[in-house]
Amino acid sequence: MILVTGGTGLVGSHLLVQLSFTEEKIIAIHRKNSNLDAVKRVFSYYGNDFEKQYQKIEWMEANITDVPSLESAYKGITHVYHCAAIVSFNKKDYQQMRKINIEGTANMVNLAIINNIEKFCFVSSIATIEKNLNNTLIDESNEWNTETNNYGYAITKYGAEMEVWRATQEGLDVVIVNPGVILGSGFWHSGPGELFTKFYNEFKFYTEGITGFVGVKDVVKVMVKLMLSNVVNERFILVSENSSFKSVFFKIADTFHKKRPSIKVTKALSAIAWRLEWVKSIVTRKPPLITKHSANASLSTYKYSSQKIKKAIAFNFESLDSTIKNTCNDYNK
Ligand SMILES: NC(=O)c1ccc[n+]([C@@H]2O[C@H](COP(=O)([O-])OP(=O)(O)OC[C@H]3O[C@@H](n4cnc5c(N)ncnc54)[C@H](OP(=O)(O)O)[C@@H]3O)[C@@H](O)[C@H]2O)c1
Repeated sequence: MILVTGGTGLVGSHLLVQLSFTEEKIIAIHRKNSNLDAVKRVFSYYGNDFEKQYQKIEWMEANITDVPSLESAYKGITHVYHCAAIVSFNKKDYQQMRKINIEGTANMVNLAIINNIEKFCFVSSIATIEKNLNNTLIDESNEWNTETNNYGYAITKYGAEMEVWRATQEGLDVVIVNPGVILGSGFWHSGPGELFTKFYNEFKFYTEGITGFVGVKDVVKVMVKLMLSNVVNERFILVSENSSFKSVFFKIADTFHKKRPSIKVTKALSAIAWRLEWVKSIVTRKPPLITKHSANASLSTYKYSSQKIKKAIAFNFESLDSTIKNTCNDYNK
């Protein structure tokens, strides 16, 4: 029996669809105010028979920071997919991210050890992998450097990964995936899904930074394949292609037959923009649209290698063009 956390988010909901095609019983946890309609919408992108598939999921209310609620969710479980986390570049969310991303993951692996879980899959991020400054490909052997990685989300995902590695020392078999920016359907007003809404509405700005992108369908396919394989206690970068933000933004706009963004965001412009956003967020008490870190990230060039996963399970990633085309099609639905 399988337990999934984060099933109401981008990765977890597509994972639930993928798992619903197997014979396994699936328990998915959600919090009190989670939006289960968004999950149903994701199922609907996979075909007309989606209600039947969706009914295969058994939902339980639990919070990964609340051990008693998790204890009930672990009853009878053999395999765990842990996708739940807070993804934020806002400094104000740092303490909450420590609690949910690090402490929550510690709770998850501790209960996995107590309950003799056969295998545990953890969704980490490329944020936990040290960057190369010399424009060479970044791979899993790049060791984290505390001095250069000082932004909240990365620190908390790294802390979570450390909890998972600690659990391997206590006998838990794990696999860790480190995806790049994940593109996929269903969550059009948060995370990378918002890019589709922005460029559908002819957002004017673009940046020329480069990073690794991957489709959500590939992320969940790899997770399931790894869980069924003999691979244990390894981490894998999941990146289909390294691309500039400019190229991704142009492709989305072109697929929607909308105007391409025309204003290039330079270092100087971005420095003004994140400062203005910071002031605005104080006045309006709303989270800033961009932060110092997200502005810098969108201007930097980092390229990732996915050779390790390609070799380990003979996996071929969908092209970025195809991921963007399919996601735009779902958006138009
Ligand atoms: N999106 C990306 O581009 C990207 C890239 C690399 C790695 N990742 C990693 O991939 C994973 C999934 O990301 P995502 O994009 O799917 O995020 P998401 O759409 O924001 O979903 C986050 C999920 O975590 C759940 N959650 C948050 N706090 C929780 C708590 N205390 N207890 C139980 N559940 C909780 C949320 O449930 P509620 O419904 O209750 O809010 C939601 O289901 C994360 O670990 C993230 O770090 C994401």
